[in-house]
Amino acid sequence: MKVGIVGAGMVGSSAAFALVMRGTASRVVLVDIDDKRARAEAEDIAHAVPFAGQTVVEAGTYEDLEDSAVVILACGVGQKPGETRLQLLGRNAEVFRSVVGEVMRVCPGAILLVASNPVDIMGQITQRLSGLPAGRVIGSGTILDTARFRWLVGRHLGIAPRSVHAYVLGEHGDSEVLAWSNARAGSVSVESFAAQMGRPLTAEVRERIDAGVRRAAYTIIEGKGATWYGIGAGLARVVSAVRSDEQAVLTVSTVSDVLGVREVACSVPRVVGAGGVSAELVPELSTEETEGLRASAALLKETVEAVPL
Ligand code: 2OP
Repeated sequence: MKVGIVGAGMVGSSAAFALVMRGTASRVVLVDIDDKRARAEAEDIAHAVPFAGQTVVEAGTYEDLEDSAVVILACGVGQKPGETRLQLLGRNAEVFRSVVGEVMRVCPGAILLVASNPVDIMGQITQRLSGLPAGRVIGSGTILDTARFRWLVGRHLGIAPRSVHAYVLGEHGDSEVLAWSNARAGSVSVESFAAQMGRPLTAEVRERIDAGVRRAAYTIIEGKGATWYGIGAGLARVVSAVRSDEQAVLTVSTVSDVLGVREVACSVPRVVGAGGVSAELVPELSTEETEGLRASAALLKETVEAVPL
């Protein structure tokens, strides 16, 4: 499988590295306006190939994206310390107006996987600009927030994050909703599991986990300027679901109707396989979570409507 990546900054490069280490792609092509940077990243990542599966990693131009099954869009700028994801919108929308056209010209059959922030809005803009069916334009959405949630709950319970089934829904951003009411450890509710393990989920613990998920990016950006490893691994996870036609349930963002908010991109659990997103699930939520998800979707809808094409 050939995977194109537009944007060889830390997010795009980390995705390329994760793809190599997972052995997900046979070829990865990095395209960046800064060709020297793309070539340097490609060479550095290629040096990991002897320690992983066989993948060709190279830098190229848009023309070299031809026949890519998936193109990851990780171009544009990231947040500065203290900046919200939504504040990036104007700058990144401008970049996408030219990039999406170039990608569609060369590989109209690819699935587009959007990583640039604000990712839900950028995904919806990409869908509009490309004219592709909604399920073929996938925003990374809350895949990373969901990973952070599972990791923090797993750490509290003393179990593997893979055994925690818990989702973050809505915006990949400040209005996101941690769906505590249907979170499971194994097949047991997290409350019951926590009580049985003698590690109760008190209000204080929940608040700490909520802040740990919601504020993670801000804290990391304060410390090192940007985040990249988690999202790089998350992007590779989505590509792997496409490659294996896995029908994996992942919290990604595509345009659909969410709790009465029409045509909005935000995250709910979705089924991902070779054709992109084929189905979405409506999780059972508490009244407060339902209201939170509706408000998050409405905020994104209002924001995207203000963006001229
Ligand atoms: C993150 O959540 C900044 O959106 C990026 O790590």
